[in-house]
Amino acid sequence: MPKKIAVLAGDGIGPEIVAEAIKVLSFLNTNMNLGLVFENALIGGAAYDAFGTPLPQTTLNLCKNADAVLLGAVGGPKWEPLAHAVRPERGLLGIRSELNLFSNLRPAILYPQLVDASTLKPEVVSGLDIMIVRELTGGIYFGQPRGVHVAENGEKVGINTKIYSESEIRRIAHSAFKIAQKRHKKLCSVDKANVLEVTELWRSVMTEVGKEYPDVQLSHMYVDNAAMQLVRAPKQFDVIVTSNMFGDILSDIAAMLTGSIGMLPSASLDANAKGMYEPIHGSAPDIAGQGIANPLATILSVAMMLRYTFNQPEAAERIERAVNTALDSKVRTADIYSEGMIKVSTSGMGDAVLNALKG
Ligand code: NAI
Ligand code: MG
Repeated sequence: MPKKIAVLAGDGIGPEIVAEAIKVLSFLNTNMNLGLVFENALIGGAAYDAFGTPLPQTTLNLCKNADAVLLGAVGGPKWEPLAHAVRPERGLLGIRSELNLFSNLRPAILYPQLVDASTLKPEVVSGLDIMIVRELTGGIYFGQPRGVHVAENGEKVGINTKIYSESEIRRIAHSAFKIAQKRHKKLCSVDKANVLEVTELWRSVMTEVGKEYPDVQLSHMYVDNAAMQLVRAPKQFDVIVTSNMFGDILSDIAAMLTGSIGMLPSASLDANAKGMYEPIHGSAPDIAGQGIANPLATILSVAMMLRYTFNQPEAAERIERAVNTALDSKVRTADIYSEGMIKVSTSGMGDAVLNALKG
């Protein structure tokens, strides 16, 4: 049975960077006989322009029937005046919820060739390679009741609710422990159990699930301390697991330790490791159409896809090594360029990775 990948290039730089990722993946597909087939569909602003909705039913059906989704990015100034319900970003949120992609994996890796891109001292960040696992479909971003009401005294009150069921915590726990097993068997669960009852439950379920993974060393940390530790001594972490909002904030801190938004991939998985893979950056309308965007975040997202959905760690490592080789050869897109390096276009960077793979 061939394995199907839904390819959603999206808007802005999306089509440019996805083309490079497909170039790399197509080569490996043939070279390693991976049995992957690709099918394209519209999402976001491009889908709105064609069908009047950012997530057409045909696109959603394709994603549901595929084993994995590769996404570029959505959105841009052209669609900003639209009502929220049909904004390009809704297309993404729709896929996440329809496919039940509750486990969001955000690695923060600092490549040794780019150590100057970080604002932190080299000794603090060099060799950084951590993974944040963020619960993506529950917690305060979705909890009811929510809204802004007028209270009895006539004053307005705003309300959001942080709510997690045992089963929601258990499934993200299993996801995180399994990832820790594939890495260095160290997991830090981040909560605010000293103040929030919901995270007291979070902590106890994490501990309970941890008994099923005796090879993984579990620790707990309060979120305020975790924010401090991430900038003080980030290398103490390997895998971090946390709730939706804490993960949103901590993963952005971790990403910026590496200093380069064009380098960071992500994955969003369901309970069967089916997933959507995408760079963490957006559609970069300011540089779209110029052929200068960095495709490495998207290429590295494909490596994550091979590792987590298709269980092909060897193919994933080949891509990651090829990215390293390309950076060693001093080629740089504009966003990571520094003096003495060789400036290349989006496709120039894709070619450098491809040549390293063929090498
Ligand atoms: P952005 O991530 O698109 O861009 C931020 C800055 O980083 C820009 O200066 C951009 O040129 C640069 N940049 C981003 N990716 C790059 C790459 N691969 N190579 C070189 N430079 C890169 O964020 P921004 O500007 O806030 O949002 C632009 C649009 O993207 C908005 O419509 C936003 O809603 C959407 N967006 C979509 C996301 C997604 O599809 N997952 C995520 C974030 C934003
Ligand atoms: Mg964010």
